[in-house]
Amino acid sequence: MDWGLKNRLSRIIRPDGKTVMLAVDHGYFLGPTSGLEDVGRTVKPLLPYADALMPTRGIVRTSIDAGTATPIVLRVSGGNSILSELSNEGITVAMEDAVRMNVSAVALSIYVGSPNEKQTLLNLAKLVDEGHRYGIPVLAVTAVGKDMARDARYLALCCRIAAEIGAHFVKTYYCEGFERIVRTCPVPVVMAGGKKLPEPEALELTYNAIKRGASGVDMGRNIFQSDDPVAMIQAVRAVVHEKATPTQALDLYRSLKRKGKARKKPGAKGVTASREELSRH
Ligand code: R5P
Repeated sequence: MDWGLKNRLSRIIRPDGKTVMLAVDHGYFLGPTSGLEDVGRTVKPLLPYADALMPTRGIVRTSIDAGTATPIVLRVSGGNSILSELSNEGITVAMEDAVRMNVSAVALSIYVGSPNEKQTLLNLAKLVDEGHRYGIPVLAVTAVGKDMARDARYLALCCRIAAEIGAHFVKTYYCEGFERIVRTCPVPVVMAGGKKLPEPEALELTYNAIKRGASGVDMGRNIFQSDDPVAMIQAVRAVVHEKATPTQALDLYRSLKRKGKARKKPGAKGVTASREELSRH
């Protein structure tokens, strides 16, 4: 791996081998998703707790502070919408523009088993070639078509194909037998959050993925649609980086949420989890 590419990837996947990515790219095919009506406002208090942010370029340029130290993993595939065939994606950003935005990685979806399987896999191949030219890592997202089962056999197939084409890390869904996906994929696997779950279930999901070998999460709705997104991202971090159990993480979430409510009272201080606080839970 070239030094620049390795350096960028190491900003996303931290020295402990784990990452908490915050996905806010949903609008590229869903439009104004609940919780992301004003992406800049949603993201601002969460950025200090995210190892990386995954937006589209329109959102980067309109809504993200250019002074942020948080690495950007830029969504560069699209051309579809919720109203049409989801797998019909192309590459939507030139690598030159991604470099101009100083991104740390680019991300695109592959749709294995869909009518546009070949097109999306060739998109990935092209992006990997360009990524190597510029030193930008590529994240392949194993998007799941409406009719595809989210089981380990299928997702292991998708992740392995992505890695064989040259993706530097992959993002896929959690399922029973997740460890098989990780074992047969030669590059890091991060878990996509999926639809909004109650907080205890989302933390359990995170714990299970990490326990079964995930290199972290790339989570969206389960953070920004949470009752308290700032508390939730810190609880997710505790599982990913501090080896917290789901119970410990839920205790942390509840405690931060209580403090968050107190913070909103006039004259109150900010709220973050200290190491001491994590160790108490
Ligand atoms: C979907 O393809 C997008 O890449 C989302 O970023 C991804 O699904 C993760 O977000 P969520 O955790 O809300 O599923």
